[in-house]
Amino acid sequence: FLVLKDVLFFLNPARFHDGFPQKNRTFAGKISLKERSMEQKNYQRTTVTAALPYANGGVHIGHLAGVYVPADIYVRYLRLKNQDVIFIGGSDEHGVPITIRARKEGVTPQDIVDRYHSMIKKSFEDFGISFDIYSRTTSKTHHQLASDFFRKLYEDGKLLEKETEQYYDEEAKQFLADRYITGECPHCHNEGAYGDQCEKCGRDLSPTELLHPRSTISGSSPVLKKTKNWYLPLNEYQEWLKTWILEGHQEWRSNVYGQCKSWLDLDLQPRAMTRDLDWGIPVPVEGADGKVLYVWFDAPIGYISNTKELLPDSWEQWWKAPDTRLIHFIGKDNIVFHCIVFPVMLKAHGGYILPENVPANEFLNLEDDKISTSKNWAVWLHEYLVDFPGKQDVLRYVLTANAPETKDNNFTWKDFQERNNNELVAVYGNFVNRALQLTKKYFNGIVPACGELLEADRQALNELKEVKTKVESLLDVFKFRDAQKEAMNLARIGNRYITECEPWKVWKTDPKRVETILYISLQLVAHLSIAFEPFLPFSSAKLRRMLNLDRFNWDELSNTEILKPGYQLAEPELLFEKIEDETIETQRQKLEATKRANEEAAYRAKEIKPVIDFSDFEKLDLRVGHIKACEKVKKANKLLKFTLDDGSGTDRTIVSGIAKFYEPEELIGKDVLFIANLAPRKLMGIESQGMILSAEDFNGDLSVTSLLRKVKPGSQVG
Ligand code: 2FM
Ligand code: ZN
Repeated sequence: FLVLKDVLFFLNPARFHDGFPQKNRTFAGKISLKERSMEQKNYQRTTVTAALPYANGGVHIGHLAGVYVPADIYVRYLRLKNQDVIFIGGSDEHGVPITIRARKEGVTPQDIVDRYHSMIKKSFEDFGISFDIYSRTTSKTHHQLASDFFRKLYEDGKLLEKETEQYYDEEAKQFLADRYITGECPHCHNEGAYGDQCEKCGRDLSPTELLHPRSTISGSSPVLKKTKNWYLPLNEYQEWLKTWILEGHQEWRSNVYGQCKSWLDLDLQPRAMTRDLDWGIPVPVEGADGKVLYVWFDAPIGYISNTKELLPDSWEQWWKAPDTRLIHFIGKDNIVFHCIVFPVMLKAHGGYILPENVPANEFLNLEDDKISTSKNWAVWLHEYLVDFPGKQDVLRYVLTANAPETKDNNFTWKDFQERNNNELVAVYGNFVNRALQLTKKYFNGIVPACGELLEADRQALNELKEVKTKVESLLDVFKFRDAQKEAMNLARIGNRYITECEPWKVWKTDPKRVETILYISLQLVAHLSIAFEPFLPFSSAKLRRMLNLDRFNWDELSNTEILKPGYQLAEPELLFEKIEDETIETQRQKLEATKRANEEAAYRAKEIKPVIDFSDFEKLDLRVGHIKACEKVKKANKLLKFTLDDGSGTDRTIVSGIAKFYEPEELIGKDVLFIANLAPRKLMGIESQGMILSAEDFNGDLSVTSLLRKVKPGSQVG
């Protein structure tokens, strides 16, 4: 009879009626610029790296906007300028989050990284992120190089050996990484805080600060045990870092410079470069069994190993030659590792160049909320391509237009639609289509000759010539957002020019004039295909196919004869297409569904109030009442007034805020539970003598509690 019924129960008594102590219970819910150019420094080549993403999840728009699109724009731009550049990427396959995920799924860490490495690699290929190599930190080359790097530091006496006490799980027989320890936060008393952070109050913690620590592996209480690890003495490099960054790199973005300064204003501490863990690169020294290199030690070395894998014979030139410029593209959470820890590693090792710039971006939010992998609050690249096949450039465009270069920024589907429809379709696509269709109509797709120039022509040509310098000067200093705006300006110049010249009208009276107008328009179109190549490579390639254009390099920009008279163009096609409201609505609904699911999960995981004694519970006088009458309270749309038979012989009045959920007639004649000894209070002038118990669902819906069997009014509940 009782199976499958929903019942009320108290979650927080110290002891249950049946005498079992609380800890033996399990609950269904979880308790729980100064600008500096290449020429000035006489650089001959550029090594560009993009942060190695952890291989424990897919790639989302935040990754793309923060790191990979800007890095790709920059590399494509340098390639177009025929500069020597390599673009290095790869997966970061070590670290605790990967082992946690593997444990959760009951597979090996290698299974996890194999799965996600292929997925991430494919997403980058699909979006035209043109790495010269995309490898992984589980590669042999990397293990060897990272190991050699560590050994050299060790042998040169550049590392400190320190013994500390760390938590150890005696059942699992292993030291516990911070994330493997949970306990009570000493600040907000959240019982599910981790050894490195309390997600409730946001404070950084160290494992020994946690109250009642527990191992997430075995559930047992860990013990402190001595262990030896090797530390990089960052403190010894503090003065050098101050000179190198604070004096030498004032041209770095203010967010990067500012973060470095705030670190360097404090006293840097030695940082452990090894960990007691079984997933990673074994520490290559004696007495280091069961220890691996810290993931933030090996990951940046991954940039070097991947270069070595790409260029086994000449990799050193890209990392050691003083005329090589090193640029790291990263997100803001990686600044300290790329501006402080890795440079100290390189400096301590010796022989390596240091980063010339670290253009780190801030974060991108999604529909005003922080992107979160665990909450699935993200637009995943592989899912985007299913919903928007062939529209990689639309996303690249929107992400650059909203790039979080100086502050956190926001992605919304509405803005995505508007930028596509009002900019890509209405400005860029429209101009290209007008120029190509008119050339097809009047000249069978053959580039006409340029005649005498009028003022409008000269103005358009002058504006066109300026675009190259403008875009260049912005790209050289990593201002991708403004650079893309300048590229788009070419299409605006074109639209204005063609609208002003009205070739469709002039054709009837002066066809020769139309030849000049379309000649100039076509040069603008050709410029667009080059200027947009770093930003929108797929559309540029399509446009070049329409133009039959195989010459494309940066220097062609401002050449007013890219397409010579008499040149045959290919068949024009539409470059971009409108995105309809329904399509955007579908995406918004998808996010709404995620939000609802998250709210429900959060509701279910709501923390239990502090424990009370049975005597506290006994103070509550809960009874059964029979609803004799029920009516709406005038001028209060939330309230219902109840007249209860509470067994005492005298009617009891209770006012309850449930009018949104029940019609009075539904409730009359029902037996309900109420608190009989709650201090009376007045609601809309009516004295309410108690409270009817209702359950609130995660979305705020209220349901009045009732009984499974008929009992007499006044019966006590407990
Ligand atoms: O934050 C991250 O996703 C890290 N995996 C980035 C590493 S960048 C480099 F050091 F490899
Ligand atoms: Zn806390």
